[in-house]
Amino acid sequence: MNSLRNSVFDKDFLIWALTNSDSSFLQELFAEAHRVRVESVGEQIYFRGLIEISNICRKNCLYCGIRKGNSMVSRYELSDEDILLAAQRAFDSGYGYVALQAGERDNAAYTARITRLVQQIKLLANPPLGITLSLGEQSLEVYREWHAAGGNRYLLRIETSSKKLYSKIHPNDNIHSFDNRLQALHNLRKAGFLVGTGVMIGLPFQTIEHLADDLLFMRDFGVDMCGMGPYLDHNETPFHSYRHTLYSEEKRFTMTLKMIALLRLMMPHINIVASTAMQVLDPLGREKALSSGANVVMPNITPAFAKENYKIYNGKTSAI
Ligand code: 5AD
Ligand code: SF4
Repeated sequence: MNSLRNSVFDKDFLIWALTNSDSSFLQELFAEAHRVRVESVGEQIYFRGLIEISNICRKNCLYCGIRKGNSMVSRYELSDEDILLAAQRAFDSGYGYVALQAGERDNAAYTARITRLVQQIKLLANPPLGITLSLGEQSLEVYREWHAAGGNRYLLRIETSSKKLYSKIHPNDNIHSFDNRLQALHNLRKAGFLVGTGVMIGLPFQTIEHLADDLLFMRDFGVDMCGMGPYLDHNETPFHSYRHTLYSEEKRFTMTLKMIALLRLMMPHINIVASTAMQVLDPLGREKALSSGANVVMPNITPAFAKENYKIYNGKTSAI
């Protein structure tokens, strides 16, 4: 089993590993991924304080609770003061990094406001806070502007690396285009960001083969970071009607741990997030991810009045 890290991570191997649910194999896989993590990026866990700055979104992803078409959501937008205060508090409590996340918006006044906010956050603290942005698809020019303003990292999940599956989990129009999303990932790198991507695990219509391809996609792209998590049902989405076709929650959880562990073996030096969605399926979800190859946690530091409205899936806790 010690040869796990020296395996050839081709599609056949990945399908074999993702299908294998033998408990001694799983134990060894998770332990080996943990060892590789410690050897490559150290014991340290990196914390990013997550600020969900707005739940307004122009998109209608079929799986997401805050999709534009969900009229049950009460929409909010944090003020500049709220955001700067949350960032200041993050710094004061020892965070070196904050992450700004929101639904996707693309008008010029909005993108200019983000530029100003990034500049202001940079001026708050000394040494300056690192800034991760997760604000969806934007033009190359906007990415360049946000990077020049002080953005360091950008998370944009590809959601699935299969163009065909992508088209099944999104409306088919030009604001939900797989090709544009892929182009956006390339543009982020061109603009100078460290680039993170990721996928959901256990989506309707998703196969083990898709998941193997997702891992190969992240390796071939050469991502700097990865955030992936289990797909979770949300009762106000079109995908709610597929809830009976899903893998059990336990299986989605274990499959996510396997994806994290395999990615760590394939890409020893990247940052891998232990996602909040893992916590929803298991109270020790994040800890389990951290001992199976993950090394980043993003505690939610959004002010409480806003947090409860950022419900992308059922059961999203308001805890950190
Ligand atoms: N279950 C799990 N993850 C989801 N996301 C959106 N909807 C869901 C869901 N129902 C994830 C997507 C998106 C991120 C912000 O949240 O991967 O990129
Ligand atoms: Fe908007 Fe992101 Fe939800 Fe899609 S997944 S509807 S882009 S918040």
